[in-house]
Order: sequence, then structure tokens, then C-alpha cells
Amino acid sequence: QPLTVLSPATIANLSCGFDVLGLALSGVGDTLTVSLTTNPGIEISKIEGADLPRETDKNVAGVALKALLEAIPDYTGGVKLQISKGIAPGSGIGSSAASSAGAVWAVNRLLGELFTPAELTQFAMEGERLASGAAHADNVAPALFGGITLVRSSNPLDVVAIPCPDALYAYVLHPEIELKTSDSRKVLKTRISLQDGIRQWGNVGGLVAGFFLEDYGLISRSLEDVIIEPVRSLLIPGFSEMKEAALKSGALGFGISGSGPSVFALCQGADNCQRAGAAISEAFEGIGLSFNTYQGPV
Ligand code: HSE
Repeated sequence: QPLTVLSPATIANLSCGFDVLGLALSGVGDTLTVSLTTNPGIEISKIEGADLPRETDKNVAGVALKALLEAIPDYTGGVKLQISKGIAPGSGIGSSAASSAGAVWAVNRLLGELFTPAELTQFAMEGERLASGAAHADNVAPALFGGITLVRSSNPLDVVAIPCPDALYAYVLHPEIELKTSDSRKVLKTRISLQDGIRQWGNVGGLVAGFFLEDYGLISRSLEDVIIEPVRSLLIPGFSEMKEAALKSGALGFGISGSGPSVFALCQGADNCQRAGAAISEAFEGIGLSFNTYQGPV
């Protein structure tokens, strides 16, 4: 019996938490339909909504499923998979992660829950390795655990599920330019100053505490990135105008979603999110590029 799942889009990094923090968005994602087959191997029979390779070794969901099947040596069958992309590749809201996480989650369900979410995260990270050259888990972990996650360590993997404040809303604006994660990782410095490190880990701790305490003021103060954003924001047209508009209109914080080009704002409540979203869109309209937006609860 085939199983169809919606695998969520995710916002990775959350400003200060490069490669460690991420959250899942409700209601937007990739749709995957999987079935178990008696023939061995992985067949990606159809991909809708994006021009992506169907060969197992070149497809993020294919390599993630391969890692899962290799972990069950006595399984002699295979998997058939269809992908309908709701998230544009290169948009910065975890397009590759949604496909690889959704594929392993659905197959695990059909196999009778052989694996834990942490083990599934490990398989889905193989998709991220293919997509970006780095097996980061900050998109696949929230896609598989739901809500907000902290990847305390990726090797060995240690994922902490973080409670999500009730009134937390996200707004995402996706400028229609493609920015590959592999490219926006190449521009990053590999050394940081101790001073920047101190500021950044203060913010990571503050943000995690803010989520636990539902302290929106602390969340807001902690949504700051002194290391990655100054470099990557140069690749995103209108970034500073949008940030100014977001903060003026009452967003808790504003930053780059994952490796961009999407940007995000976190807000307290749907009304604030609506207001901040309108201000961000208006600021971006001045740039003259097309874009699309998403808004909803975390
Ligand atoms: N943490 C990754 C990065 C996320 O910023 O490169 C990519 O979506």
C-alpha cells in the first residue's frame, strides 16, 4: 500500500545557530509517495515541480533511502518513490532536506518503525552531503522531529528537541534567485575572532533559553548573527532594507533562512507576523525582483 506524506520546509540556523538550530514550518513542504517493492533497489518513478535527477545516487532522497536500506541487511525488497516538490531547490527553506527526510520517514513507517528519529536524521544527512558537500543536520532534524531542534553535535549525532512557544509565527520571503548552499558555504570565513564567538554562543544559549521560557524578549535579543550574516547578506538583494522594515514593524528578529536567498522573520502572534510580512514585502518590492512568500505558525 503506498503512503503519501507532506515533509515540511525548514528554516535552518535561526540567525545565531549556524548548522545547529532549525525549525519546521507548518503547511508547506514536499509531498512524497512511497511503496515497498519486492524487486530490490530504489526506483524514483516521478519527480514533479522541479527538474531534478531521478538516478538514485544523484538524488538526495535516493541516497538517503540507500543509507536506510543498507542499515537493514536482511531486507531483500526495494522502494518506489514519487516526489512532488512544493519547495523550490536552492530557495533556502530546506528543499533537499524535505525530500530526504520525507522519504526516510515514510519508508520507516511502512517498515514498521524500525528506526528512531535520530537514526532517520543520520540517513537523511546523506542527502544533505550530496546537496551541499556537508552532512549538516539543521534542516533534516526539524523536518523529522518537528518543531524546533538543536543539533548539539553532528558526529556523533545528538539532537535536542526544543519546545516551541505557542504564539511563534514565521514569515519567509523567497526572492526568485537561486543560491546553491554549496556556493554560499564557500564564501564563509573558516576562522572567527574570540570576541565574535563569545557574542554568538551567548545568543545561541539565549535563544534556546527563550524558547524554553517562552520569553519573547529574550528570543528577540538573541536573534542576532555576528558571524555568518555579515558575509552572506551581501549575496541577497535588499537584505538591509528588509531587515530594517521587519524590525521597525515589530518582528522579533530577521535573518537569512538557511544559506539563503530566502529571508525570514520570527514574530509573536499572527497579527504581528502579518504586519511584519507586509513591511518586508514592501521593502523588497522596491528592488524590482519577483518573489514569493510564506507565513504561518512554527
Ligand atoms: N546550515 C546550513 C547553511 C543550512 O547555512 O549552510 C543550509 O540550508
